[in-house]
Amino acid sequence: MTAIRHLVSIDDLSLAEIRELFEQADRFASDPRGSSQLCAGMIVASLFYEPSTRTRLSFESAMLRLGGGVISAAEMTSSSAVKGESLADTIRVVGGAYADVIVLRHPSEGSARLAAEYSQVPVINGGDGSHEHPTQTLCDLYNLHVERGRIEGLDVVLAGDLKYSRTVHSFAYALARFGANIVCVPQHGFEMPPYVIQRLREEFGVEPVRADVRRLGSLAAESDAVYLTPQKPHQLSLFTDAKGWEVQSVDAVYMTRPQTERYESEEGVGGGYLRLEKGSMAAESLRDAIVMHPLPRRDEISSEIDSDPRSIYFKQAARGVPIRMAILARLTGHVEHPQAAPPLPRHYEVAIGENPCPNPSCVSHTEQRHVQAKFKLTSRSPLRAHCAYCSRQLSFRLVGCSSTRNYHAPDSTMLRKVRPDHLVFFADEAQAAALGFKPVGSARGLGSP
Ligand code: NCD
Repeated sequence: MTAIRHLVSIDDLSLAEIRELFEQADRFASDPRGSSQLCAGMIVASLFYEPSTRTRLSFESAMLRLGGGVISAAEMTSSSAVKGESLADTIRVVGGAYADVIVLRHPSEGSARLAAEYSQVPVINGGDGSHEHPTQTLCDLYNLHVERGRIEGLDVVLAGDLKYSRTVHSFAYALARFGANIVCVPQHGFEMPPYVIQRLREEFGVEPVRADVRRLGSLAAESDAVYLTPQKPHQLSLFTDAKGWEVQSVDAVYMTRPQTERYESEEGVGGGYLRLEKGSMAAESLRDAIVMHPLPRRDEISSEIDSDPRSIYFKQAARGVPIRMAILARLTGHVEHPQAAPPLPRHYEVAIGENPCPNPSCVSHTEQRHVQAKFKLTSRSPLRAHCAYCSRQLSFRLVGCSSTRNYHAPDSTMLRKVRPDHLVFFADEAQAAALGFKPVGSARGLGSP
């Protein structure tokens, strides 16, 4: 039996597979009614714990166009979630006999990864908190491919709320892998989160440099812009001066709305939010730039530029159907997929001690009953690890070995010999001592107050 393929992160697909999905989507787009028997008898379940218009309806439309059926819990307040049912139990039932594929949207980061662990059918992440939204990214990449004919080497501006927009995070990972350059133009206070930048650097070899965005005109007037590029630092240093890398001409502007539903109580966009207007699109550097938005929009794109031929956001949403048809046909095994999948990431369980994930919105905290904290090792020396669910860097000051019951400072070379599945993470000495661990080397006296 072949293993079930899930789509939890955009990293679950190789670049060759993504290109194959584009080709398949092109075929579906050119004849949307021509494959009405392809998925006959299949059922997609939409489980939406957060509002959605495009993601849910385009998936449902895609499955209906492929001849399958749809069951939908779009309003999870009318489901057993309000009776206190865990996500894991809901998935066990729906991903058992009820459906052949599940599309899940949930406010907890890492929820789709958890669902995949409990489901007997493919799980598609329709957005997990502010973490990832891989199918929106496929739609966005497909739009670049159709409009620009390539993704490699493009200069793409990501603008607005880069902190909480999950569409931006997945899109940035994919753009980096394709070798595109990213110009981050954040709303002040809503910059790209450090954990996303770190992952772009460590996993995709991206170099962040200051960006000189004077040529972008009013779009970037008050922004702390950053240029994220797969080019090597020595190449960049030939061209960057104190003001940073000068952004010349842009291929696409990807605008996002303020994700106010995720703001902490003290957060807000006090002085007003970035806005794309007729005037802002007049800058020479934006002359050929297409304007994209995952939608819904609020005021961040003025309706006066809806009729500008560069504005493609409604076409972009329409293309969500053929690309989601391609995703469904692929994950349900109805089209050939000769390209190899990327290797699955190695995840290890945190067997002992407190959950070291610092993110309160992570599913490892919100669904404690059913989740064993897991991590991915990103560096051996100094030891660094990321939560396998929400991708945040784990927070710890001391690291133990469950077999020797010794603990060390994270930069100790002795940790290189510890098997990853034996690693235990401690916030301080007291936690380590309470579990019977003893300090070794420079860890002696390290964690004491
Ligand atoms: C996005 C989302 O839900 O993250 N919407 C979508 O799926 N098209 C963007 C947003 O809500 O701002």
